[in-house]
Amino acid sequence: MPSSRRKFFKILGISAVTSPFLSLPAVRTSRAYALDEFESNLRQHNPGDERFWKLVRDQFPLTKDRAFFNTGGLGASPYQVINAVKKRMDELEEVSEVGRSTQVWNGVKAAVARFIDCEPGEVTLTGCCTECMNIAANSIALQPGDEVLTTTHEHVGGALPWLGLQKRRGIVVKTFEPGHTAGETLDRMKRAVTEKTRVISVSHVTCTTGAILPAKEISDYARQQNIWSVIDGAQAVGNILVSVSDIGCDIYATSGHKWMLGPKRTGILFVKKDRIDEMLPVTIGAYSDEYWDFNEGVILHPTAQRFEYGTYNVPLMVGLQSAVEFLERIGMASIYTYTQQLAAMYISEIKNLPNVELLSPAREPDVSSMITIRLKNMENTALQSFLASEYNLRTRIVPEAGLDGLRVSLHVYNNREEVHRLINGVRKASTKL
Ligand SMILES: Cc1ncc(COP(=O)(O)O)c(C=O)c1O
Repeated sequence: MPSSRRKFFKILGISAVTSPFLSLPAVRTSRAYALDEFESNLRQHNPGDERFWKLVRDQFPLTKDRAFFNTGGLGASPYQVINAVKKRMDELEEVSEVGRSTQVWNGVKAAVARFIDCEPGEVTLTGCCTECMNIAANSIALQPGDEVLTTTHEHVGGALPWLGLQKRRGIVVKTFEPGHTAGETLDRMKRAVTEKTRVISVSHVTCTTGAILPAKEISDYARQQNIWSVIDGAQAVGNILVSVSDIGCDIYATSGHKWMLGPKRTGILFVKKDRIDEMLPVTIGAYSDEYWDFNEGVILHPTAQRFEYGTYNVPLMVGLQSAVEFLERIGMASIYTYTQQLAAMYISEIKNLPNVELLSPAREPDVSSMITIRLKNMENTALQSFLASEYNLRTRIVPEAGLDGLRVSLHVYNNREEVHRLINGVRKASTKL
């Protein structure tokens, strides 16, 4: 691993930046701590110890009885995030201030940039990953006949922006099926590239099987061929270790409300510095410009701020900053190790059961902590209902790519007992006639 990357991941593990809005939570339960207190309590345990993760779990109002395995759909937020949003909302309503303060905005962007390893000027704050993908698709200058290459395992939010462009502008969307390994995926992708390919748009972690696609190698190849690289990281940031600088892609899109545990309706778009000027946003307004008047027209903002427009929900973005700080206090490296252990435990127990097909990659470096299986003896909807009613587990079915699978996401609030319950449930279902 290059030393710059090591340094970045080290920072993720130990960073301790405090938001001015987080010193005293508005809602205090016996278990909800301010970030500093939370961190000092955490440091009394080792991340290899269950007590460390119990303390993390206690920071979430998320109901205890039901095991929540759908972070890939929507993550739960800890008290620290919820309280940061509420506090900022109260402050806002007291003064009825609609504008966003530069200081607050810069604070959010600095935290987000630190977390995904880029410059604040390369970050656009949005409402969701789908919005980011739409900005990407509609801001790159594509002509009729230009090809966009993507995979058959994209989420609707990553696929439709390109298909919409096919309808409106006559570009051509082509697909390839991801392979079982990074090498196979790369080979298949290269074979699908033609002289008309202008964009390669792939998920970093697929929503179907949680497979980690070789985003860095794909971006390297795209750069050499003068092709735009667009990475949909909705299932990656907060799940695996992500450094957009190391990946070297032109564009990276993600959600704040999944693995990052941020407020709902938050998203992050990264656009590489030297690509920003080539992109012309479709939707613009306040904040998109550096200067405008009716004589000279508009000079777009030189940074990724050009993709921001109009009034924002600032409390949500302050909450996103708090979510970054919460994950940093735990340490992304510890989170990755812990959730990989839970994933390995699940995979090893179910992969040889009769009737169980493991659709996700079996091990690192291709597997994330989102795992999909299929049963030969039971429909995925029936399996989902069975696990919900008999074991009180929240899972997600995967109709995408014709998989008809069942997906579980394993995050900081999950524990070994819940994974045992899941294993028992799948074992029982796999023997049903
Ligand atoms: C890979 C991928 N991209 C995009 C999205 C859409 O995310 P959002 O709801 O933030 O727009 C999802 C949601 O599950 C996803 O899995």
